Amino acid sequence: MNVYDSARMADVLAPLGYASADSPEGADMVILNTCHIREKAAEKVFSELGRLKRHQAAKALTGGRMILAVAGCVAQAEGEEILRRAPFVDIVLGPQTYHRLPEMVAQAARAGGAVLDTEFPVEPKFDFLPDARAEGSSAFLSVQEGCDKFCTFCVVPYTRGAEYSRPGSAVLAEARTLAAQGVRELTLLGQNVNGWHGDEGWGLGRLIRAVAEVDGVERIRYTTSHPRDMDDDLIAAHAEVPQLMPFLHLPVQSGSDRILSAMNRGHDRAAYLRLVERLKRAQPDLALASDFITGFPGETDADFTDTLALVREVGFVQTYSFKYSPRPGTPAALMPNQVPEDVKDARLAELQSLLLDQTTAFNHACVGREMRVLLDRPGRHAGQLVGRSPYMQPVHVKAAAHLLGTVAALRIVSVHPNSLEAVPLETTLP
Ligand code: 5AD
Ligand code: SF4
Repeated sequence: MNVYDSARMADVLAPLGYASADSPEGADMVILNTCHIREKAAEKVFSELGRLKRHQAAKALTGGRMILAVAGCVAQAEGEEILRRAPFVDIVLGPQTYHRLPEMVAQAARAGGAVLDTEFPVEPKFDFLPDARAEGSSAFLSVQEGCDKFCTFCVVPYTRGAEYSRPGSAVLAEARTLAAQGVRELTLLGQNVNGWHGDEGWGLGRLIRAVAEVDGVERIRYTTSHPRDMDDDLIAAHAEVPQLMPFLHLPVQSGSDRILSAMNRGHDRAAYLRLVERLKRAQPDLALASDFITGFPGETDADFTDTLALVREVGFVQTYSFKYSPRPGTPAALMPNQVPEDVKDARLAELQSLLLDQTTAFNHACVGREMRVLLDRPGRHAGQLVGRSPYMQPVHVKAAAHLLGTVAALRIVSVHPNSLEAVPLETTLP
């Protein structure tokens, strides 16, 4: 979501003459787009600001001015604190107000004193953003934002606000704009993307079917979804829409019923497994990814063993796993039975090692398979292209340059530590 937001901020600022620079050195403006999801990410903001202050001072020495802005969820949650601790910051803006960046920049350029805008405005920012500019053949398309689920560990409902769905017509218009610029793969984006519901009474399954009709769109993904919002029509879309990739990020967080309940996830382990079974029945090639948290308050060895067992049972091929990080203002931060850091660390290491084994096994099982790969960038070696498999694995292939930006049929021939090697399919046919 932050990658998408950063790109949109660049779009908003382009008419003012701003273009992306490769480094903060000498820049006229630096926007630090921040994440508040875990303590480590939030802490980084202040150390990064210290570094940027030096660039700002160096620019001032040459008679120039560097406008320094802090955007994103740390700005939303700690706006006043940022201005107190880093008074050299010019602009603090939350994730819902970046369409107003041009005004803020003008104000910052005019006046002394910082500009702070962390409102949740009534007008959706999407109505004010310019047309998206595509870079390459794969793009994010934000369809939904915010979260009403209130998992007890999570700051998102507080920093991103209530669930909001963009109208289907606006999403389809943006899909057409992007496809016309050469985009072949769209990833529909939302904090709870499958909670999307259009003004038309559509759910995400219906939206995916409509996006699949857009000329040029060859692949569709959506992320991140919540098990509670996975409805029948969306499951059916996995069976019926050929462009919908057979790879789903469906976070479960824990395999223990006790912990799932303490997390307020709204489903138990059995319900998650039933859902996976239905999805796999709809799309037998489906592979799943998840997020996990180790050391949630009260998590015992037995709870953690349940998580390991679930990871094996579902056969996740990829995961993002994190140590529980107490976040200010969330219920779990106040729970009495916090787990010691060393226990969280040990569980994280064990979980990640199991997942690495599963990812590696999955990669090896791909050898010999035919896959359609979106070749989206040149490789490091001449005559080589790099792309993504349906399962998001990076794939290297020796192929002609004109195939860049297209979906090519390849056969996977070997596995490298972080990627797959393939050959064009024709050359392997008898
Ligand atoms: N501590 C650790 N991980 C967290 N996540 C969200 N909040 C926390 C927290 N307080 C993880 C969840 C979520 C992902 C985006 O970040 O696993 O799915
Ligand atoms: Fe956070 Fe996701 Fe839970 Fe919402 S559903 S509170 S974004 S973890």
